[in-house]
Amino acid sequence: MDHQGLKWLQMAVLVVLLVLLLTKPGFSQTNDRDNNTNVFIIMYCGEKLYFGQNAVMSLPNLNKNHNLTFNELRTELLSKRVLYARAQALSAGDDSVFAAAQCRNYLSVDQCVSCFDTAVAQLVTNCSWGTSAYISYDNCFVRYEDSVDFYNNPYVMEYGNGWPRLSCGKQSASQPTIFNQVVDGFLSDVRHATPKTSNFYVASTRNITSENATVYVTAQCAESVNKAICQNCMNRAYDGLNDCLPNTEGRFFDMGCFARYSTTPFFNANQTIDITNVLKGHSSKVSVIIATVVGVILFILIVLSWFLYRSWKKSKRTEQDMEVVREQITPKGHRQDIKHEPIRTRKCDSLVVHPITSFS
Ligand SMILES: *[C@@H]1O[C@H](CO)[C@@H](O)[C@H](O)[C@H]1NC(C)=O
Ligand SMILES: *[C@@H]1O[C@H](CO)[C@@H](O)[C@H](O)[C@H]1NC(C)=O
Ligand SMILES: *[C@@H]1O[C@H](CO)[C@@H](O)[C@H](O)[C@H]1NC(C)=O
Ligand SMILES: *[C@@H]1O[C@H](CO)[C@@H](O)[C@H](O)[C@H]1NC(C)=O
Ligand SMILES: *[C@@H]1O[C@H](CO)[C@@H](O)[C@H](O)[C@H]1NC(C)=O
Ligand SMILES: *[C@@H]1O[C@H](CO)[C@@H](O)[C@H](O)[C@H]1NC(C)=O
Repeated sequence: MDHQGLKWLQMAVLVVLLVLLLTKPGFSQTNDRDNNTNVFIIMYCGEKLYFGQNAVMSLPNLNKNHNLTFNELRTELLSKRVLYARAQALSAGDDSVFAAAQCRNYLSVDQCVSCFDTAVAQLVTNCSWGTSAYISYDNCFVRYEDSVDFYNNPYVMEYGNGWPRLSCGKQSASQPTIFNQVVDGFLSDVRHATPKTSNFYVASTRNITSENATVYVTAQCAESVNKAICQNCMNRAYDGLNDCLPNTEGRFFDMGCFARYSTTPFFNANQTIDITNVLKGHSSKVSVIIATVVGVILFILIVLSWFLYRSWKKSKRTEQDMEVVREQITPKGHRQDIKHEPIRTRKCDSLVVHPITSFS
């Protein structure tokens, strides 16, 4: 590859990198608006019963597995700097533990782990016999079961039932009519937008000018549920939170999702997600895919045109060379015959050489 070719290639690679860089979704930032208030929402502790008796095979073994999974979840969150983790501890008996922890996406990993620790402390003290347990706070959600089923379907509970939980604030908005109207429309948008995002998560704000207030809303579906489960849960969240109006805050929890609104900031203005774009159907995932495809096609086109240009130049040169060679090697008397050789129609270098050698 010559100097010019290298330059072309460098340019092409740069263009593709630029396209990819520009479309890379933003990283979550730390959030300092919230006073790190982390309101407790609900805890459930389900025991495995057999004729009314606890049927755990070995309590020490169960607690050991609780501890193992909690420790692994914590390590996972911290070492991978993530806001969602899974862990499991398998037993020969029936005391296996499958666990998951999920934090709201506007938190830092440290805020996440802090909420996780609070949650686990409650589970350890109040649910040592638990074979199905969950606990939810504003900032995080921790759950374990003795089977994997809940990972994909959060409504599968091995022991007991999970119920939705609604918790409303105590303060009413000063202008309820306009407040209800704006927040209802906002919550409705969030309900439709959340299942359309790539990570089933939304954080958004809307101003109520007459109240001189901004409403903050977040919604998050359980990790790895499907779109339908997320949508159903968000519909319940919308119905639930509507019952909180015109209170200035509300929280909804269900096994499949979490949603919260408040006029008190609990994430930063620069951590919001543009839901108008999501509602139009341009989820960030889709735009990243489109941008990547466009980038790759562009790259291929550039490389292709470079190769075409090169081979065109080369074949032109070969044909010119050929004329010269022909003039030199052809005996005068055979000139006519050579003219009938299909030299000019052959583009490929190796083939062009062939008639000449066969002739001589
Ligand atoms: C945050 O905490 C400070 C002091 O602890 C308090 O004055 C302020 O009102 C709190 N802000 C919110 C939004 O709760
Ligand atoms: C689990 O950990 C807690 C403290 O985190 C400890 O008190 C308890 O003894 C441990 N249980 C087992 C079975 O290791
Ligand atoms: C857990 O138990 C402690 C002590 O009995 C109690 O104070 C606390 O409220 C319980 N936590 C939950 C979430 O029920
Ligand atoms: C909402 O109000 C805040 C503060 O008053 C302002 O900074 C922000 O630009 C407003 N947002 C919209 C979408 O109007
Ligand atoms: C709106 O609220 C901001 C701060 O919360 C205040 O500075 C401003 O004066 C208020 N505007 C009106 C019209 O009340
Ligand atoms: C987001 O806003 C917070 C507080 O306003 C600020 O500390 C932080 O640097 C901002 N992050 C970015 C990426 O702008």
